[in-house]
Amino acid sequence: MGQTIVVLGTGGTIAGTASRGDDTVGYTAGQVGIEDLLATVPALKNTHLVAEQVAQIDSKDMSFAAWQHLAARCAYWLAQSDVQGIVITHGTDTLEETAYFLQAVLAPDLIGSKPVVLTCAMRPATALAPDGPQNLLDAVLVARHPGARGVVAVCAGVVHSALDVQKTHTWRLDAFTSGDAGPLGVVEAGNLRLMRNWPVALVDIAQAAIENVASSTLFNAVQRAKQWPRVHIVFNHVGADGSLVHALLAHGVNGIVVAGTGNGTVSNDLQNALLQAQEAGVRVLRATRCANGRVLPTANDVLPDSQGLSPVKARVALLLQLLVRRDNPTINP
Ligand code: SIN
Repeated sequence: MGQTIVVLGTGGTIAGTASRGDDTVGYTAGQVGIEDLLATVPALKNTHLVAEQVAQIDSKDMSFAAWQHLAARCAYWLAQSDVQGIVITHGTDTLEETAYFLQAVLAPDLIGSKPVVLTCAMRPATALAPDGPQNLLDAVLVARHPGARGVVAVCAGVVHSALDVQKTHTWRLDAFTSGDAGPLGVVEAGNLRLMRNWPVALVDIAQAAIENVASSTLFNAVQRAKQWPRVHIVFNHVGADGSLVHALLAHGVNGIVVAGTGNGTVSNDLQNALLQAQEAGVRVLRATRCANGRVLPTANDVLPDSQGLSPVKARVALLLQLLVRRDNPTINP
């Protein structure tokens, strides 16, 4: 087993700077290079680290091109025998989407038995008391843990699986939750206490959404894609009608996730428009806008549900389904 931990920087608040130390909102994300961030954590000086700047962005601007590059760099480093695991610094805003994406396209064929640990910060690097250095230290500790595997996120001492992690607070340092599933573990005084098994089975769940397509097939489809399918999210809400769906159809949409109310319910008008879209060949998935819980099937369902995926993760699953279908016309996911 290798000893090297590769740290891939992508930007985010963890690499953000403000003109004043007491400014924790008016900062610019993605400014400090990954080597400099690592230098702020003296406790890492005896760990063999390799740093690589993969992107330097605010994660609200995370793009398909950046995902392609990130997945390729992860696959490259995971294949090196001296590499024990990967840590990725990432903005908090879309971390859960990147985590789910990487879990789907890397595991298990490419990830093997190694971990990919995303970490982040809620305060910029210039804050009076930045949270990034501790999160980085915790993430490396998790990546070095014997038996660590799969894609996880570490923030504020809590370890979340890629499937469950969700940002649920706009400013608290502990901004993430694993919802009903509960955290995978916690980092306590420099030790990882696991509460659940490592997410090897997560691939099954990713596959459930992507309908039993091997992750190597997904990876290849992602890497070959020049243009990504158009998949959008619409909400059900009071007075929701079909106008947005009709506008999306006119725009050439390929997939729609509807963030339904409660147990994935959708107004009659919106549902009719979504059924029309489905008939026109657009893939539709029904999730819930509730932060917790999953859509439970009922006898009256006319639109497929997202199998427990949140709207943003269902969108990633749908993107991948569509990509695979386009890349492999003989597969019918
Ligand atoms: C970002 O997502 O890049 C900015 C916000 C954050 O990291 O907390």
